[in-house]
Amino acid sequence: MPSAPIHPNDDMFHGSIEHYDSVGSQMAEFGRRAAELAGDAEPRILELPCGYGRVTRKLLDHFDPGRIHVADIMVPAVDFCTSTFGVHGHYVVDPVYEFRNIESSNFDVALLGSLITHLSQVNARSVMNHFFTKLRRGGVAVVTTHGEKSREHLGGSDIYQVGDAARQHLLAAYDANEYGFVNYRADHSLEAKTVDYIGNSYGIAMIPTDWVKDVCRENELTIIEHRPGGWDNHQDVFFIRR
Ligand SMILES: C[S@@+](CC[C@H](N)C(=O)[O-])C[C@H]1O[C@@H](n2cnc3c(N)ncnc32)[C@H](O)[C@@H]1O
Repeated sequence: MPSAPIHPNDDMFHGSIEHYDSVGSQMAEFGRRAAELAGDAEPRILELPCGYGRVTRKLLDHFDPGRIHVADIMVPAVDFCTSTFGVHGHYVVDPVYEFRNIESSNFDVALLGSLITHLSQVNARSVMNHFFTKLRRGGVAVVTTHGEKSREHLGGSDIYQVGDAARQHLLAAYDANEYGFVNYRADHSLEAKTVDYIGNSYGIAMIPTDWVKDVCRENELTIIEHRPGGWDNHQDVFFIRR
């Protein structure tokens, strides 16, 4: 079957189909691993955020579309995923870090790929607190952060296009074992369409492992696996059980 088109507004596509496919496939494989850890051969899956389906299209290699629910704050992205991949869709609405219109305790597996990597500490904490209520008890989530590997890459150059002062701020925060957050520069191009849609609450975060551990402790969640740089040799990957 020919692969589905990449949406022209998909900020996750940076020019290489091979890389786009590889990153999507890696996250789909994490979803498969989470299903294994949850003990579900046919899990109900929540993918939040889905964007324009870089990962969603690869989830279809492992799971039935009728078992997959996707959500995003960008309405056209959700619409593209539902109409192209036949999955269920949810629009994230105000309050946008609480996901009130998505049923609680309803999912065996939940994927939080590259969302808190873009949020301030207070917003990321709210996301973590509410996202995990969507899992059934015993269900397993995949959460990604900008952790050890991001620190290494950002130490080498301004890979997130935030400008030198902001870059130094992120590095200093991370090295002090503190959560760091900055906005993108006005002229950045990496995720310009996403920022245009969402606004300045969407930037770049650096997230120490201790922050993830603290949030998990507060919410009575268990970290099962931590893979530093496990996603695309870049984002840290955590498998976390509710
Ligand atoms: C870096 S992209 C990742 C998309 C997808 N997970 C992937 O890896 O291809 C971040 C996504 O988060 C979405 N987003 C930002 N704030 C959100 C919120 N409060 N609730 C749901 N989605 C949000 C953006 O619209 C964007 O699609």
